[in-house]
Amino acid sequence: MGNYSFNNAQWLLVLSDGYKKNITFPNAVNNRLVFTFNFATYIIKEAKTMYTVKFNFEEKGKEPVVLENVEPGTSLLELALMNDIELHHNCGGVCACTTCHLYVEKGMESLEEITDREEDFIDRAVNPKLNSRLGCQSLLLDGDGVIEVTLPDQTQFLGE
Ligand code: FES
Repeated sequence: MGNYSFNNAQWLLVLSDGYKKNITFPNAVNNRLVFTFNFATYIIKEAKTMYTVKFNFEEKGKEPVVLENVEPGTSLLELALMNDIELHHNCGGVCACTTCHLYVEKGMESLEEITDREEDFIDRAVNPKLNSRLGCQSLLLDGDGVIEVTLPDQTQFLGE
């Protein structure tokens, strides 16, 4: 979870991803264990935060959709489907097709890193670009900010 150091009633929390935060806590000496536990719980909740996710569409006549207060932990495919946004997913979201292919215009750093397997499938997608991802593999990491994606024209796909 993280390392803790104590110095003059100041706690320094260092999480494994490099997140650091100082906090002053007058009863730190007496309540060290209790505080450590509560603080870690608090920080993990705080680190989750929320995103704004904007979906653009290549399909003519479709207006962008902006979703506010999106919690980390879902994939872009799940997010699309939960909000009635059409995004094909013929393999069921297990990184075994290319139909959930999309372009990430903003916020690539907020998504789980691309794997070799995902790259292999992206190479087989229609019109892959440097900002291509598979929606089912693009999990929103803890954080906040704006993520913007463009969905290819879905009328070119058959199936789900
Ligand atoms: S749904 Fe098949 S790869 Fe994402």
